[in-house]
Amino acid sequence: MTHPKLLKATNLTKSYGKTTILHGVSLSVRAGEFLAIVGPSGSGKSTLLHILGCVEQADSGELEICGKNVQKQSSAQLAELRGHELGFVFQFFYFQPHLTVGKNLEVPMMPLHTKVKERQARIEAAAGLVGIENKLKQKPNKLSGGQLQRAAIARATINRPKIILADEPTGNLDGENTRRTMELLLEIKNSQNTALIIVTHDDTVAEMADRVLRMEDGRLQAC
Ligand SMILES: Nc1ncnc2c1ncn2[C@@H]1O[C@H](COP(=O)(O)OP(=O)(O)OP(=O)(O)O)[C@@H](O)[C@H]1O
Ligand SMILES: [Mg+2]
Repeated sequence: MTHPKLLKATNLTKSYGKTTILHGVSLSVRAGEFLAIVGPSGSGKSTLLHILGCVEQADSGELEICGKNVQKQSSAQLAELRGHELGFVFQFFYFQPHLTVGKNLEVPMMPLHTKVKERQARIEAAAGLVGIENKLKQKPNKLSGGQLQRAAIARATINRPKIILADEPTGNLDGENTRRTMELLLEIKNSQNTALIIVTHDDTVAEMADRVLRMEDGRLQAC
């Protein structure tokens, strides 16, 4: 059986001032599918991922996530959609430096009113999965690059999203940590049938994907 489309983008455009960054981008992804997006620096990959993750808005085009038209959602509905269905691994993490790693993992659950006991259980389970259970009481600046990367993945999965969007999740890692991080993301994808959309410069990461799309000057093509 083919899985339903979880995300469908049609003809998305985005400009900053007079510069057009995305020129009508279309793509879709199904449950359990791993889609990689490659392409040169500055071609618009992060911009696209932020729009797909409802962190930024497109100027035109359509975006449907889990059957909902993003443009038609109120900001409260959008926050709900983002919280329940999407997990985002940012290119530069964005951990809150004054909070412990454990508290940082709790942040995505706060707007969803998850019960305190359940929050704690999820934090421990996610930290265990990525192997940072002994770092939960520390501040982010005490973690290594690889540990921060794994903490970012734990945070992205904490609400058990249907889609994980990850921007260069192995960008700061050596070969061994890249392998471990990808194993982790694929394990989450396979066990929870999560769709994975990963932006990467790394050919070894792109080779693991079911499908690879290439961004060139704000246009997306199949490889
Ligand atoms: N908030 C912004 N305001 C103005 N210009 C922006 C903004 N965000 C991105 N840009 C511009 O949009 C273009 C695409 O940026 P983007 O971050 O999407 O590229 P990228 O493909 O992710 O690059 P990299 O591989 O280096 O991460 C760049 O020219 C960038 O300067
Ligand atoms: Mg980028």
